This record gives sequence, C-alpha cells and structure tokens, in this order.
Amino acid sequence: MSLVVFPFKEEDPEVLLRNVKVALDHPRVKEVLCVGASEDHCFRAVSAAIPDLSREYGKPVNVIVQERIGELRPGKGDGMNTALKYFLERTDHERVHFYDADIVSFSEEWITKAEEAADEGYQVVRHYFPRSSTDAMITWFITRTGFALLWPKSVLPWIEQPIGGELLLTREAAGVLFSDHRVRRQSDWGIDTLYTFSMAAHGLSIAEIYIGVGKLHKLYGALTDLKTMLIECFAAVQSLKGEAVAEGTVHHVEYPGPVKQEVKEKIGYDIEGTLWLLRENWTDRQAELLGLFPGKVREGLLASRDYPRFAFMDDGLWAEVYGILLEHFEPGDPDWRELLFKLWITRVLQYTTTVALRGYDYAMYYLHRMVADYVHRSLTSG
Ligand code: LAC
Repeated sequence: MSLVVFPFKEEDPEVLLRNVKVALDHPRVKEVLCVGASEDHCFRAVSAAIPDLSREYGKPVNVIVQERIGELRPGKGDGMNTALKYFLERTDHERVHFYDADIVSFSEEWITKAEEAADEGYQVVRHYFPRSSTDAMITWFITRTGFALLWPKSVLPWIEQPIGGELLLTREAAGVLFSDHRVRRQSDWGIDTLYTFSMAAHGLSIAEIYIGVGKLHKLYGALTDLKTMLIECFAAVQSLKGEAVAEGTVHHVEYPGPVKQEVKEKIGYDIEGTLWLLRENWTDRQAELLGLFPGKVREGLLASRDYPRFAFMDDGLWAEVYGILLEHFEPGDPDWRELLFKLWITRVLQYTTTVALRGYDYAMYYLHRMVADYVHRSLTSG
C-alpha cells in the first residue's frame, strides 16, 4: 500500500487538486501528501479543500510546508526530503510515489504501471516520457553528459530521464536515500540528480516505465527560465565527481511506443529570445575566466558580445569544456554562473541548428549516440 506525494510551489490549485483526486481514486493508494514550498495561494486553496476530500474518499490527505533539511538554497530538495522523512517516520506504507504537481496529463495509469513494476521486485521505478527534440536540454547536455563522462561503467548514463520528478521508491529504497547525507544536503533543484545518483551508487534495482501520453506541463520561454535549474543541476554533478558508484545494477527500461506528432513538432524553447542572452551580462572577469578554455571557445564566446556565435560548440568540444567546468566552476560565484549559462546556451543552439533541425528521429538517435560516445571516450581515455 502506498503514499502519493506532490511537492508544489505556486501551482494552479485546480491542477493539483485534480491530481490529488486521481491518486485518491487508486486502490493501491492509502494516503496523499502535498508538500508546499511555502504557504502560498496554492497552499491555502489546497488546505481549504482537503478536509472534504479526505472525508469523501475515506483516506488521509495532508498538506504540509517543507522543512529546512538541506544546506543549499531551500527549494525542491527540501520538499522531496520532507516527504521522504514523513513517509519513513510517520507512516508504515510500503511504497512512496512522487509526482510533479503541475502535470495536466496525470492519470491512474501512472500509478498502476509503477505499482506493477514494484510488484515485480524493483526497488525503484522511474517514469519516462517522449519529449520534444529541443526539450530536456539540461538532461542531455548536463546530466547525462556528466554521468557518461564521470561514471561510464555505472547505470547512470543509461537512465532515460535522470532529473525527472516522477518515481516510486520502496520503503527500503526510501530508507537508503534518506540516510545518504549527500541526498539530505541537496535542498535545491539538484535533488533529482542526487536521488538518481544515490539509487545507482547504492546499487538499487531500477525499472523505467514508459508513459506515452507524455508530461504535458507549463512551457519554457527563453532559456533564462532554466538558468537556476541548470546551475544547480551542474553543481550537483560537480559535487559528486570523486564519489564511487556501484556497477552491475539491475536496470530494465520499458521499450518506448510511437511518439505523437504533437511532441515531435513541439519547439522546446524560444530560440530568438535565447540568442540575445549571449550578448548580455558580460563582465571583464568572465572574459578572463575564458582563458581557461580552448581558443575556439574563448574566441567564439567573446565574439558573441557583438553577434551570437555557437556553431563551434559540437559534442567533442563540449566534452572538453565540461571537463574544465568540473575542475574550475564555483557555484557561489556569479561570474562563473553566468559563464556556465552562456557556454551551455552555445551547446544548445549548436545542437538545435545542426541536429534538431534535421527532425525528431534523427535528433533522438544523435542524443543517445552522443551519450554512448561519451561513455566510450571515458572508458578508453585512461
Ligand atoms: C530538462 C529540463 C529542462 O530535463 O526539464 O532538461
């Protein structure tokens, strides 16, 4: 029997409440917990609706504010960890599910498929979805790239959506994650990276299940919307770079289904708005820091102060840049943060205009191939 958790922050209460009802309707679900980042308008609306819901379904529904558990920016990590703590200390349910609160395509299938994989004995079940070729730009160029370069022998590079927030943990897996101090300190957007890392590090068995309807949710504008997430996701990988990860983890990925035209045609971000970002917020110090990078990178980025340049940032050069960032990046330094953002933008734009432009199928093949090449490069470079 399971607990379903929805971490939320300034969401549309109607969407969240609808999702709570979907969960309450499910026979495997015994309790629902909503964890708010603060007592915002969504928190108040959900709190007001909950007593009736609880009565109607005859199951406990709670809404709580997240605790301060971690050491970094208080964010989604504190929310998820508050829920883990609640699950372990205040309930005796066998499994916990996490779902992002803003999903408009949530249905009982998401819960059923996860429960079925857990019934087969997997300790962790992760949902994955079809995503457009220009979506998931942190996933591909930060998380999967870093996982491939740093832990090529582990399961990490092969996890489809390593920063996805939809997953099931058995009680045992939840205990392993919550007792990992690296997980508890990660209070920010890096939490998904840390959950994925920790489950692989401890060798928990993982099933990935495919949800064909996809995760329809709010769209991103220019890539600025993702800036904090990008920085925190990279810093999370960087903080783990010396850590050991188990090999030979049991990992099964459900074969994906046909992808809807709507997903194939979706443009993931505002390209014109993003081009401008390469010209903005320059400081002399950023120009100086570029001295650490190969000539092509330095010259390209500096030229972008006048006119956006990005064609130089192919997968080979990005691996080199990534290595330099792993060594030198300082998460607390605004110039480093801005420079990481700009470097990543050049990678995303280069990919968009030379790979994504060729069509969805080609792009997906290229991205998976890219990860495999990084794994190979890492395993054979001594
Ligand atoms: C990612 C973020 C953008 O997966 O959703 O990269």
